[in-house]
Amino acid sequence: MHAGLVHGASPGMTPARGPEPRIRPARLDEAARLADFARGTFLDTFMGEFAMGYPEEDLNPWLAESFAEQAFAAIIADPRTGVWVAEHDGAYLGYCTAGDNTLPLLGASAADGELKRLYLARSAFGSGLAGRLMATALAFLDPERRRTVLIGVWSGNLRAQRFYARYGFVKAGEYAFPVGRVRDREFILRRGPA
Ligand SMILES: CC(C)(COP(=O)(O)OP(=O)(O)OC[C@H]1O[C@@H](n2cnc3c(N)ncnc32)[C@H](O)[C@@H]1OP(=O)(O)O)[C@@H](O)C(=O)NCCC(=O)NCCS
Repeated sequence: MHAGLVHGASPGMTPARGPEPRIRPARLDEAARLADFARGTFLDTFMGEFAMGYPEEDLNPWLAESFAEQAFAAIIADPRTGVWVAEHDGAYLGYCTAGDNTLPLLGASAADGELKRLYLARSAFGSGLAGRLMATALAFLDPERRRTVLIGVWSGNLRAQRFYARYGFVKAGEYAFPVGRVRDREFILRRGPA
């Protein structure tokens, strides 16, 4: 190959990849945009990949409440909750939220931390971005590894469970997660202090 083509850009060449996706705290003024993205990643995962088939009368009110702009504005404004976005060239590739535990596990409390949501756009699966978001959330929740951290994950979501296992999370219980009248079987994963 001509040496000049190795390093230089020339017409027809694939442009060099830009910098890595950037992870940063979400801003209050992007609550609506983030809520839309979060709704989309939820639907891709649960209605797309997992084909949950929730009846519309159960799903729609739940979506409206869970992915409302105000719901995202509230968590972004809450100093006890961390909300981060991963973006590249101005587009979201993922987001993550973490805060005090609300999962119903015997012996657990709000003194424990909870990774509440971690979702990537499908194009970013397997890219390492989930690990960077996870590290960001764990650094916020538990910088010195002194706290128990919990995660709720759908029992059938084997990919996410494999991913969380890599960080030392093991199944500690389960509960029924309500989507309208539907109840999903949800595992509670736990990682204790070091
Ligand atoms: C969960 C999520 C954040 C993980 O990020 P990721 O980039 O996909 O994770 P990785 O590719 O690094 O790791 C996934 C693991 O699952 C494995 N895996 C891939 N596809 C799988 C499948 N269909 N079934 C089981 N395991 C699978 C991978 O081999 C890897 O396991 P390993 O570490 O033992 O090799 C991402 O997949 C995602 O956003 N999923 C949709 C939203 C979601 O489910 N969020 C979690 C809600 S609790």
